[in-house]
Amino acid sequence: MVCLGNICRSPIAEGILQQKAKEHQLNWVVDSAGTNGFHNGEAPHTLSQKVAMQNGVDISKQISRKFVMEDFELYDKIYVMAADVLVDVKQIAKEKFDASKIDFLLNELQMGGNKNVPDPWYGNEDGFVKVYKLIEKTCEAIIAKYK
Ligand code: 4NP
Repeated sequence: MVCLGNICRSPIAEGILQQKAKEHQLNWVVDSAGTNGFHNGEAPHTLSQKVAMQNGVDISKQISRKFVMEDFELYDKIYVMAADVLVDVKQIAKEKFDASKIDFLLNELQMGGNKNVPDPWYGNEDGFVKVYKLIEKTCEAIIAKYK
């Protein structure tokens, strides 16, 4: 799960998918990263933590890290939250970029829609709630598809 800062959107996505995979006894390794590295070492945004916790998902132990090219070797599937993130991932991954492994997260709801998960970073709590619901719905679709 990849976004820009790895503090708002992708930590929510990691937390939800990790928990749902566990509930379905799926032995998946779910991780997240950000492309800008501005928040390396930080915990998720307070509002991401709050909204996740209100939904029974504890993301407080996550630590922000920058996406690295080796992520294409480690993971089978890489979801980007938005088009700008995809551009960054291509630049970071260079020759390790593998188009067959990467997709917009929201394409699991609407194939080929290439829609962005809105960035709640500049908004209020309401934005985080909306993003949480959207990501949750998408993670449910991922579980239904791959389980
Ligand atoms: P995220 O939100 O990509 O969902 O974690 C952002 C958080 C921080 C910044 C940008 C987006 N930033 O530029 O610091």
